[in-house]
Amino acid sequence: MIVSRLKVKNYRNFNEAEIVFNDSLNIFVGDNGQGKTNLMESIYLTSIGRTFRLNSENELIKFNENNSVIAVNLQKSNYNMKIELKLEKNKKKQVLINGVKLDKTSEMIGILNNVIFTPDDMKIVKGSPIERRKFINIDISQIKPKYKYLLNSYKKICTERNMLLKNYYIKAENKEIIGIWNDYLINTGTDIVLYRYEYVNKLKKYAMNIYSDISGNKEEFDLIYLCSFGNIENMDKSEIRSLFHNKISSNFNQELQNKTTMFGPHKDDIIIKINGRECKYFGSQGQQRSAILAIKLAEIEIIREETGEYPILLLDDVLSELDNKRKGFLINYIKGIQTFITTTDDHDLNVLTEKYNKKKFYINEGKIGDIIN
Ligand SMILES: Nc1ncnc2c1ncn2[C@@H]1O[C@H](COP(=O)(O)OP(=O)(O)O)[C@@H](O)[C@H]1O
Ligand SMILES: [Mg+2]
Repeated sequence: MIVSRLKVKNYRNFNEAEIVFNDSLNIFVGDNGQGKTNLMESIYLTSIGRTFRLNSENELIKFNENNSVIAVNLQKSNYNMKIELKLEKNKKKQVLINGVKLDKTSEMIGILNNVIFTPDDMKIVKGSPIERRKFINIDISQIKPKYKYLLNSYKKICTERNMLLKNYYIKAENKEIIGIWNDYLINTGTDIVLYRYEYVNKLKKYAMNIYSDISGNKEEFDLIYLCSFGNIENMDKSEIRSLFHNKISSNFNQELQNKTTMFGPHKDDIIIKINGRECKYFGSQGQQRSAILAIKLAEIEIIREETGEYPILLLDDVLSELDNKRKGFLINYIKGIQTFITTTDDHDLNVLTEKYNKKKFYINEGKIGDIIN
């Protein structure tokens, strides 16, 4: 999959810009605060429909403007496409595919697949379970359209069920209604857990090999889906379902006391291990960086396995975080994958990509300067 062109208007610190990209490697060079990440973000927006930063949607629109347009031209293996995002202050954003407006923004997910890697991704290794759930939720949504729908349903089910747990003794009929919500919770939750279990196992398969290559076959990587209602290893759907059911039944009084849904995919986690020890607590800085690198590259392989095409790869400021060995490994790996890299200093990158087909863009105060092929 190739993003051949990007056009932005009144977007962040850009007035108007149009960029024709290289099929392989695109490098955005510039000092801090010039708009490199903004450009990465604009591409990401046409993939996922949301920013990867902690901003509100209004902040995407250039200061003192009311609307903004971001558009990309996409070349897939057998067809071309245009994805457009129209933002208007305090209004819902619009997404157009080949000029046709989508009913829901989420329908755009899966058209332009991306893998993004930023220094923030260290949170996947070091952060709380929320970070790891967020990461697999976005990943699975890109390749399984039904998953996003299941997640939205599950969220609503938890909200409703929590309300019932809070008000359980207030209305007599709640004793009957809770059974229906338990079934919803168990059925939808089981489906989500199955998707995740399958995804994590695939991720593990690829990441193990990649990690082994990075470490020179010296260390062993492992990934485990940690399910909050019990060990689901090698279980089929009906077994997982009954495990979940039993957990809910035997802990119902505790849930009533806590007034909240205590078990289910919203409480699950993924454990990353190096040489049998949890990387979050026992991994060195280097091991933690290798682990996230292996996971990110494994994501690329899963998307290719599932869709038949490589995703695009967005590397925002990560090169400076990696030592020479890991940098070299990464640059070598991205051959054949359209990649976008931001950097403040392109010296190392120039050396590493000497023989690569590439385009370099100098970004300065929201303007795209010289282009060097
Ligand atoms: N809505 C906006 N309108 C105008 N400028 C913005 C807007 N949002 C962010 N910026 C500006 O964009 C710049 C940051 O760009 P960024 O892409 O993060 O820089 P970097 O090149 O370091 O990655 C800052 O100068 C910030 O003020
Ligand atoms: Mg930046």
